[in-house]
Amino acid sequence: MPLSKHSTLTQFLIEERRRFPGASGDFNALLLDVALACKAIARVVAFGELGGLMGKHAPESGGSLNVQGETQQKLDVLSNEVFIRRTEWAGHLAGMAPEEMDLPHQIPAQYPRGKYLLVFDPLDGSSNIDVNVSVGSIFSILRGPDSGRDVTEADFLQPGTRQVAAGYALYGPATMLVLTVGNGVHGFTLDPNLGEFMLTHPDIQVPADTQEFAINASNSRFWEAPVTRYVNECLAGKTGPRGKDFNMRWIASMVAEAHRILMRGGVFMYPRDTKDPGRAGRLRLLYEANPIAMVMEQAGGRASSGREPMLGVQPSALHQRIGLVFGSKNEVERIERYHAEPARAAEHNPLFAERGLFRD
Ligand code: AHG
Ligand code: MN
Ligand code: MN
Repeated sequence: MPLSKHSTLTQFLIEERRRFPGASGDFNALLLDVALACKAIARVVAFGELGGLMGKHAPESGGSLNVQGETQQKLDVLSNEVFIRRTEWAGHLAGMAPEEMDLPHQIPAQYPRGKYLLVFDPLDGSSNIDVNVSVGSIFSILRGPDSGRDVTEADFLQPGTRQVAAGYALYGPATMLVLTVGNGVHGFTLDPNLGEFMLTHPDIQVPADTQEFAINASNSRFWEAPVTRYVNECLAGKTGPRGKDFNMRWIASMVAEAHRILMRGGVFMYPRDTKDPGRAGRLRLLYEANPIAMVMEQAGGRASSGREPMLGVQPSALHQRIGLVFGSKNEVERIERYHAEPARAAEHNPLFAERGLFRD
């Protein structure tokens, strides 16, 4: 394939930038550094067991925990390092905040500081690494203080509407980078021969309707009534109130579910539930929910906490968790409607009855 019909990511970014003649080029350079970090992680992931990087980080000391109290995999720690080293040197960033670090990462003194903040989940779905199932990286870019001072947690606590770019890389059968800079969503496939991301999926649109949903049904006994109602209605299929059959999927890599939904529609739910009263959901607002929400909305889909549009939520902490629902617009709106309606008992459904499929 000496002459590909596809543009490279670099060409795409330069052409986008021509629309903003005053732009400094910093932003594009930052996105290319992020893309390079993703390519580096893709290579390590592709080596699997041969790379010697499977399994838990620091198992000799009982395994390391991140700030969320989750066991870190070796690849969580390495991917975090790759993201930091590939992006901190160039003078575009004021600071960054990764999932794996308690506090924001300050740009080291030997490097210039810039005006953007980078927030990221270096490896999403890391429980899937050891079983060779797709994982990915998720990132969000915000504006930060332009003064060269150290960043604080408060600098990052901006609602998702303030993201200037967001996206993810998916390390699946092919590696893809999916990006929005606020002008639609564009998908790039890594050409392994050239080591370049090629624009293969311009202007992605999420279908407004779907017959596919994704939720971890093992949590069903902890769900709130609107979620139970929605899932029951899907499960009731053709003969139920929806009048059509639904399919269910659960990969346990949110980034992979987001990609499937972007490509063919669907709805993903990791709602707030009563499992652990100490946390308002499973997924993190700043580096999981918000970037995926921006991608969904830019592709004509929708993202919500169930109660309010995700992008409008004012964050209160760096590692804040939140209930997350996203995907095909009409389904997400339906779930929001169910949340807005006065509480009602879950309808009787044979699947949740005494001997039903989802009875605990
Ligand atoms: P991470 O690997 O970054 O900690 O995120 C994992 C998240 C998300 O990707 C996935 O949808 C969810 O956790 C899986 O949750 P369950 O363990 O409940 O399946
Ligand atoms: Mn994650
Ligand atoms: Mn992660």
